[in-house]
Amino acid sequence: MTDLTSLTAHTAEELDAADPLRALRAAFVCDDPETIYLDGNSLGRLPAATPDFLGQVVRDGWGNGLVQSWETWISWSRRLGDRLAAHTLGAGPGEVVISDSTSVNLYKLAAAALDARPGRRTIVADIDDFPTNRYILQGLAEQRQLRLVTLRSDPDQGLGTDTLGEALDDDVALVVLSLVSYRSGAFLDMAAVNSAARRAGALVLWDLSHAVGAVPVELGATGADLAVGSTYKYLNGGPGSPALLYVRKDLQRQLRQPVWGWYGQRDQFRMAEEYDPVDDVDRFLVGTPPLLSLAAIEPALDVVERAPVTALREKSVRLGEFAVELADAWLTPLGFRLASPRDPARRGSHIALAHPDASRICRALRSEQRVICDFRPPDRLRIGFAPLYTRFTDVRDGLARLRALVESRAYENLPVDMPRVT
Ligand SMILES: Cc1ncc(COP(=O)(O)O)c(C=O)c1O
Repeated sequence: MTDLTSLTAHTAEELDAADPLRALRAAFVCDDPETIYLDGNSLGRLPAATPDFLGQVVRDGWGNGLVQSWETWISWSRRLGDRLAAHTLGAGPGEVVISDSTSVNLYKLAAAALDARPGRRTIVADIDDFPTNRYILQGLAEQRQLRLVTLRSDPDQGLGTDTLGEALDDDVALVVLSLVSYRSGAFLDMAAVNSAARRAGALVLWDLSHAVGAVPVELGATGADLAVGSTYKYLNGGPGSPALLYVRKDLQRQLRQPVWGWYGQRDQFRMAEEYDPVDDVDRFLVGTPPLLSLAAIEPALDVVERAPVTALREKSVRLGEFAVELADAWLTPLGFRLASPRDPARRGSHIALAHPDASRICRALRSEQRVICDFRPPDRLRIGFAPLYTRFTDVRDGLARLRALVESRAYENLPVDMPRVT
């Protein structure tokens, strides 16, 4: 890695020319040269091979094979899970399936984990975690009369290890955390959390949504128990693509999830009267997968597998450092503040910039400047770096257009009310 402190001494064009991953951008649809996309942490770009692959699944699989195609489709949740496990998660075969949404998988695994720790009455979570995670845990705590302890993490710097350590005792059944914070990008130490929780006898359920495909994840080596995560962000599986679900091999038979569907059933097509789940990770499946959305993960993985995750991480760190240097020089004087850890080792693949008018700036940036990032309350502009296709020139030009917009104050014409989707 070249000296990060002098990144801006190079032109963005030089950095792009020296980027070993630069050829991978051609594997994505990037038809509009005017638009700068810095939101791959929310919805990844469309892989160029996906439309034809889906067309083939629709024409040949659905059109010709019809119901017979389920003979192959039936194992895709598991087959694609194994591919994902090997390349991006540091997990073994038979530990990951792709199914349902991240929210639903989180519910299934959290409920299963609570059942596996009878007598313990506390769930520990992060007050600043993604809302769906908190809502699901609030629901579980209320339904089961458990105590939900929400840790006060720093909205910019993330959760301190001491804060977690102080909350762990022999009443804690489950700890739920995001490896990379959805807002600040703060990146936790998975190994440290796993061992602290293990010492307390609690299980840990990780949300990998903002991590998988962008930062190295070592579920096996760190002794992780459980994980879920999105496939439509850095993995580019497409809007609403089904989510990953990981359960460590030796835990699988000890855990029983709450939604007893036929996809988890032993000899599914024997249509037995009583629920009797299989012994492996398939027991965490529920019903028929959204096959076309699941299929889109195949060409997406073909692209992700072209680069080791260490190379993706290296480029992501460089893009982030480049952005931080430019933000310090151009945007801090205009009232922005870096609302993410400054140390790249403690950050995932996006940064947040706080500004009192971030919501309107974000909207005007899209409509006036054709730069796409997103807004997260209370006042954060979130800027993502997808190492498979984001260029250093995108970062420079995106931030230059942001600077020009804020200098012109053109965003002040927009209504203050937030739109439905930000
Ligand atoms: C960190 C995190 N967890 C969970 C979710 C929820 O995912 P889904 O809506 O697919 O259930 C999201 C969605 O963006 C997310 O960012």
